[in-house]
Amino acid sequence: MTNTPFNDLLSLASQTAIVTGGALGIGLGITTRLAQAGANVVIADINEESGTKASADLNAQGYKTAFIKTDVSLQTDVDAAVKFATTTFGSLNILVNNAGIYPNTPVMDMDIAVFEKIINVNLKSVFMLTKSAAAVMIQQGKGGKIVNITSIDALHPSGVGLAAYDSSKHGLWGFTKNVALELAPHNITVNAVAPGGISTPGTGMGSGDISPAMKELVEKFTQKIPMKKFGDPDDIGKVVLFLASDMSSYMTGSQIVVDGGVLLS
Ligand SMILES: NC(=O)c1ccc[n+]([C@@H]2O[C@H](COP(=O)([O-])OP(=O)(O)OC[C@H]3O[C@@H](n4cnc5c(N)ncnc54)[C@H](O)[C@@H]3O)[C@@H](O)[C@H]2O)c1
Repeated sequence: MTNTPFNDLLSLASQTAIVTGGALGIGLGITTRLAQAGANVVIADINEESGTKASADLNAQGYKTAFIKTDVSLQTDVDAAVKFATTTFGSLNILVNNAGIYPNTPVMDMDIAVFEKIINVNLKSVFMLTKSAAAVMIQQGKGGKIVNITSIDALHPSGVGLAAYDSSKHGLWGFTKNVALELAPHNITVNAVAPGGISTPGTGMGSGDISPAMKELVEKFTQKIPMKKFGDPDDIGKVVLFLASDMSSYMTGSQIVVDGGVLLS
């Protein structure tokens, strides 16, 4: 048995990661922690302005990141992002499937195109990225780490209007468990992180520019959180670092809930 030296447990030196939706919010929190741990990080995001800025800011602090404009719901973009990682940094060892959308519309008002878009961005993308990235990891023969960002809504609905979102996140949790089984013989672990309420641009809280309706929703939700506050993207970034590092060497097919206790209430 070889035990990793204590100081190396969180090191991702010489590892390359792709973080989808890594330009803003939770994704940026994840990108930052992986880069600090020494990984080369590819930010694969649909938002060119924010992605370019995030990468430039991190590189100015001495970290190694690169941005590629990616719509995760398109196979061509997914393949291009995986190729970009290997051509830019020489390998691919970690995939974090974080990009996701959560429009709030009751089923009775929802157009089929909206339902399909949510499934395509939140779930179909993960199938495409996993297949493409795992093929590279298997070929490299050194194992790998895949981390999927689900939600507490993968376990329990947090409110009306999220039926399509909840379908995508329940699906993503099911996908995580089954593909963990399939990829275990290749020493590729597949785990999930299920956030509760996190302050991000998507929740209207990351920019300080929050509408009165969203403010009311956030205040009501905060009352339900035993820790009485929304989480920060870094609360998720730290747990993803754990799952991407040797700290979690014997974990696969697991989901870590990071929600300030809200599922208890
Ligand atoms: N914020 C929360 O409270 C919360 C709670 C539970 C789960 N989550 C999950 O965490 C993830 C990130 O959420 P967030 O709040 O940081 O969102 P956000 O809207 O603040 O940021 C999402 C990022 O993903 C990118 N993105 C969106 N569509 C994309 C696409 N098609 N292709 C590539 N990139 C795309 C955006 O440009 C942005 O950079 C999502 O999967 C979400 O479901 C968030």
